[in-house]
Amino acid sequence: MKPRHFLTLLDLSAAELKRLLARAMELKAMFKRGERHTPLTGKTMAMIFEKSSTRTRISFEAGMAQLGGASLFLSPRDTHLDRGEPVEDTARVMSSMVDIITIRANSHAMVERFAAHSQVPVINALTDRNHPCQLLADIQTYLEKRGDIAGRKVAWIGDGNNVCHSWIGASHQLGFQLEIATPEGYEPEAEWTATCRDHVRLHHDPKQAARDADVVVTDTWASMGQEHEKAQRIKAFSGFMVDGALMKLAHRDAVFMHCLPAYRGMEVAAEVIDGPQSVVWDEAENRLHAQKALLELLLSEPPKK
Ligand code: CP
Ligand code: NVA
Repeated sequence: MKPRHFLTLLDLSAAELKRLLARAMELKAMFKRGERHTPLTGKTMAMIFEKSSTRTRISFEAGMAQLGGASLFLSPRDTHLDRGEPVEDTARVMSSMVDIITIRANSHAMVERFAAHSQVPVINALTDRNHPCQLLADIQTYLEKRGDIAGRKVAWIGDGNNVCHSWIGASHQLGFQLEIATPEGYEPEAEWTATCRDHVRLHHDPKQAARDADVVVTDTWASMGQEHEKAQRIKAFSGFMVDGALMKLAHRDAVFMHCLPAYRGMEVAAEVIDGPQSVVWDEAENRLHAQKALLELLLSEPPKK
């Protein structure tokens, strides 16, 4: 039987996504009450991380430990992947020994190849194209703060990057309007947008996107791997900082979101990220609970053997 993977938000149905978010809130309440819940005792998760991480790595490792399982963190130097062992061979071997595999990779295609040859579920912990785990936490945060996101308006201001792509996937699955403002040339990928563009509108003026929004969200202008483009990007994104004036165009009770790490004075002003509308610390904390719900879901599928 083929394992169940989570490479983009489209790998879960809308109903599964809603159940997962409800479960994440339950797991959070149990954790806060100090209840032990260890359904994954005896399970092992391998974590292949080709890029840096604070939140994703810690939340997956801590989450797996809290659920009773174990995890092993593998940087590029720790396996033969970096020395040219084929992704397909690595996937076959690794998945014969562990129960689930989390991958943060430079290339989304690499994760797809890995998943195609894995006997166990593979989770995308961020690629150049998608960051679906982030969106689980972000939607959980909106639910906790303001309720159902269906029918609401979200303004994405900045780069049409991996996190933006996952917001597009979420708008399709959960039925909210997504207004994306990017500089010209930094739009989300047309191919990805085409698969789920029913709730998406593209702009080049941040004010148009932010008007009457319930959520204003942004991300770094230079993602991991784009450091060499930083100077050029700072120029291109001039006028795209989320500041107090832009937030004033949104609803009075709008929340500000950012996946972090954030660069104050670039994509977001300190007055916004450190201000009363910001929910960024809740988003970060919810990575733990949402991913625990994801691990439970994927590991409750019938076993591979
Ligand atoms: N938001 C996020 O994925 O953070 P890390 O890069 O620290 O994991
Ligand atoms: N877009 C950012 C997200 C970091 C969590 C990056 O890929 O670097």
